[in-house]
Amino acid sequence: MNQDQLKQAVAAAAIDYIKPHLNNDTVLGIGTGSTANYFIDALAELKNHFDGAVASSDASAERLKKHGIPVYDLNSIAGFEFYIDGADESNHQLELIKGGGAALTREKIVAANAKTFICIADESKWVDVLGSFPLPIEVIPMARSYVARELVKLGGDPVYREGCVTDNGNIILDVFNLRIMEPRKLENQINQITGVVTNGLFAQRPADVLLLGTSEGVKTIKNDA
Ligand code: 5RP
Repeated sequence: MNQDQLKQAVAAAAIDYIKPHLNNDTVLGIGTGSTANYFIDALAELKNHFDGAVASSDASAERLKKHGIPVYDLNSIAGFEFYIDGADESNHQLELIKGGGAALTREKIVAANAKTFICIADESKWVDVLGSFPLPIEVIPMARSYVARELVKLGGDPVYREGCVTDNGNIILDVFNLRIMEPRKLENQINQITGVVTNGLFAQRPADVLLLGTSEGVKTIKNDA
């Protein structure tokens, strides 16, 4: 199977995972990216079996609406069971790097509201140590140079993502050459830099379940921590 087929397989596995739990009151948290898109497309078949969704990006909200799935403002929803989203990397503790699609801040907010974060990813995302994928940081535009200098002090090589404006009107710095041995600590350190909106480490709130697409089939990996 190629990477796209693996993404489709994990999207289908996520549908199987949540299907028994759906009812007319169910609201789902939905992520962003190509794997999340496969999930949204598969979810359309079930649109009469749940209430609606909260989306982590304008792009995902548009895709959900095109399928006729109601999209709610997060402020009108008092928490929900499932958040389903992809990742750029996952380590064995299901700590993630996210934000390749620049939606990290809203992804983190929606994930924070969910009881169960189901991460869907193909096997290329499974790593021993986070950091080969450059760590995305959402930054207030006027703080770009200051934040970049502070990130260098933490040992990274930040690069401005040209032409990228987030749904929140901010910019992205991608930090190269990090070997992240203590993801929770680094997540906190980066959040302390003035001008940082969010960083793409999901370690304080890792995934609860990883559905990992491999050539031997989809593996279900649970976070027992
Ligand atoms: C978007 C994300 C995505 O989940 C991540 O980039 C993975 O994307 P894809 O499913 O296209 O490989 O964090 O901000």
